[in-house]
Amino acid sequence: MRHLCHTEMKFICLTVLIISGATDSRSEQYEVVGPADTVFAVAGEDVILPCSVKPSISVVDMRVEWFRSDLKNSLVHLYEDHDDRNTEQIQSYRERTKLNHQELQRGNASLKLSSVRVSDEGRYKCFIQSKSWSGDATVDFIVEAVGSPPVITVDGFDDTGRLYLQCESEGWYPEPVLEWLDSEGVRLSSETAETHRNEDGFSVKHTLTVYERDSKIHCRVKLKHHMLETLIITSSNMFHLWRTSAILFSVIVVLSGFAAVLIAVFIHKYREHSQLQTENRRIKHELDELLQSQKIPKVITHLETDMVNATLGEDSANACLIEPEHGKEVIYDKTEP
Ligand SMILES: *[C@@H]1O[C@H](CO)[C@@H](O)[C@H](O)[C@H]1NC(C)=O
Repeated sequence: MRHLCHTEMKFICLTVLIISGATDSRSEQYEVVGPADTVFAVAGEDVILPCSVKPSISVVDMRVEWFRSDLKNSLVHLYEDHDDRNTEQIQSYRERTKLNHQELQRGNASLKLSSVRVSDEGRYKCFIQSKSWSGDATVDFIVEAVGSPPVITVDGFDDTGRLYLQCESEGWYPEPVLEWLDSEGVRLSSETAETHRNEDGFSVKHTLTVYERDSKIHCRVKLKHHMLETLIITSSNMFHLWRTSAILFSVIVVLSGFAAVLIAVFIHKYREHSQLQTENRRIKHELDELLQSQKIPKVITHLETDMVNATLGEDSANACLIEPEHGKEVIYDKTEP
């Protein structure tokens, strides 16, 4: 425009320049300012997303629009024609947003967001528009959800003094870091690590094997700004008790084994014995039957009854004693030498 300014047109040109400059300076004079840093809040808390016009000018007569630039410019809060107009607002923000109308007079269009949720995390834009100018500022908002205090479970132990620990915690956002620490604060590496994501945030579960000498073990779950910790103290008594019971148990097992063997042997012997008895009885019975059929006992009786007492004198020195077939006398036979 300047090159058009010939001497004769100087006055008009000057006027145009002044007017355009004034218009330019008026629209550039105001600026919508957001926070210097990312805004941070903990789930459940209330937060203020800062936004204001600099230099300070009342925005009461202007349109103030808060929206999520990362969610297809969905409306978070709208102030227009001197009132809040939130019929088009995202459902999840219903009843949770507030513009302080008194602060609007001071050019402060900060948005108060109540009971922050993990889903509120994202990029917001504060857009302010008057009849003559408009401007916006970006607000990055991150949410941290502090989960449940970690729970340490003793998952088992063995005779070598090893202790199997498990630490669990849920409801964290973003994904937390879980670490095990010994009594000196030295980090111990987890054996297994599991992480799950659901609508409540992240849940974590890690396992660790320690020895009975590591008496104090900490399980720490942390985020950038928050940390929860649980301590487990192991007593060697536990192991002693366990060992004693293990020894007792072994002794009982061994003794029971012996007893079982003894009982088995006894039963076996008894069975053998009764078998032998039965066999004896059977044999006796058979023998009886046999004897009865052969008349042998009678022969014996005959022999027994035929025995006689005999006293032999000197003359019978070389004599033979002959038993008569049917008598009871002993006959001295001199015919024999
Ligand atoms: C803007 O208003 C909010 C309340 O909505 C307040 O907390 C904040 O301090 C105000 N900012 C300034 C710069 O006054």
